[in-house]
Amino acid sequence: MKVLITGGAGFIGSNFIRYAMRAHGEWMIVNVDKLTYAGNLANLAEVAGNPRYRFHRADICDAEAVGRIFSEELPDAVINFAAETHVDRSIDDPSMFLKTNILGTQVLMEAARKCGVARFLQISTDEVYGSLGATGRFSEDSPLRPNSPYAASKTAADLLVRAYFKTYGLPTLVTRCSNNYGSYQFPEKIIPFFVTLLHEGKPVPVYGDGMNVRDWIHVDDHSRAVDAVLLRGRPGQVYNVGGGNERTNIEITKLLLGAMGKDESHMRFVPDRPGHDRRYAIDDTKIRTELDVVPQIPFKEGLDATVRWYLENEAWWRAVKSGEYQTFYDRWYKDRQNRDVP
Ligand code: NAD
Ligand code: DAU
Repeated sequence: MKVLITGGAGFIGSNFIRYAMRAHGEWMIVNVDKLTYAGNLANLAEVAGNPRYRFHRADICDAEAVGRIFSEELPDAVINFAAETHVDRSIDDPSMFLKTNILGTQVLMEAARKCGVARFLQISTDEVYGSLGATGRFSEDSPLRPNSPYAASKTAADLLVRAYFKTYGLPTLVTRCSNNYGSYQFPEKIIPFFVTLLHEGKPVPVYGDGMNVRDWIHVDDHSRAVDAVLLRGRPGQVYNVGGGNERTNIEITKLLLGAMGKDESHMRFVPDRPGHDRRYAIDDTKIRTELDVVPQIPFKEGLDATVRWYLENEAWWRAVKSGEYQTFYDRWYKDRQNRDVP
């Protein structure tokens, strides 16, 4: 089976590629990534030389490039991880979010339709459901009430996916996962951001009163869920994926302070994020009962391992923070050209 993955140089896409290369010895994986600020080929060093892996640098909004790659590769399945993903950036400037997350998804589905792929899996988010009060959980039937430009762009993409299933019969699937944590996450998201700040002896900025709740899941558990939905999900369906692990931001901050041996003088309350969703919680009954998918990594264990990973891989996040990682593609391309010369 040939699986075309977009956004495979990002946090979750690269985790899925590393996982799938190990789990599916018969798969060929084609990674299509624009390498925006969030794309980092160093995340894929482990698979870069594998003959079952191929990389194309392309923008998913570029219909010509995408069409060319699809007709060259003829994938059996597509998983769309590519997106602009940081809520704060979407508040500063929504325009790229609308382009990549909506138009890019449509361009991919058009190419998938033309080449007759057997599965098109859209990686969505729980943020499409908006915000919860103190009780309740999001089910797949909860109303879509996005609150940030990021969430609105992901919701629009989900609706387009639905339309391509209904109108053209494209065999689509959608996953809506809660907050991921783990290694190789870009250090603008709260966990790696705070770990790296604390390591540098800097205070960490907690938005508002810090009582916003997120449902945390280890990225390895997310990858296992994506794999199950791709192979066994029913076309046209949406599957929620969650960690069953609700934590306030203050709780997360205190756990990180403890893990880093710092006291609460390193915690600073700063003005709130506009439109900040108060609480996310996932009802994952459907994926549990239909596909037998349950998260396996206990939060405390996963968080400790994640903190350790950032401490042991300082060179990785230092290169990200300094921007040096963005030269990785040029080096990779030069190496490849040198290799291609007989
Ligand atoms: P990320 O920001 O780490 O990576 C995004 C990747 O997409 C990068 O490699 C980037 O270069 C690539 N990309 C961006 N624009 C592109 C374009 N126009 N063309 C081609 N490639 C492009 O994101 P992530 O956290 O790994 O998230 C991956 C997916 O999972 C996203 O669709 C996101 O909405 C979804 N999601 C994320 C989380 C989370 O907690 N991080 C939770 C649920 C769902
Ligand atoms: O729920 C899934 C979503 O999780 C994904 O769809 C998004 O792509 C992903 O970025 C993530 O969104 P969040 O906005 O929840 O993640 P972030 O790490 O930015 O923030 C987590 C919480 O921490 C949120 O309540 C805001 C808060 N926060 C964040 C940062 C960066 C702070 O208090 N201070 C900070 O500096």
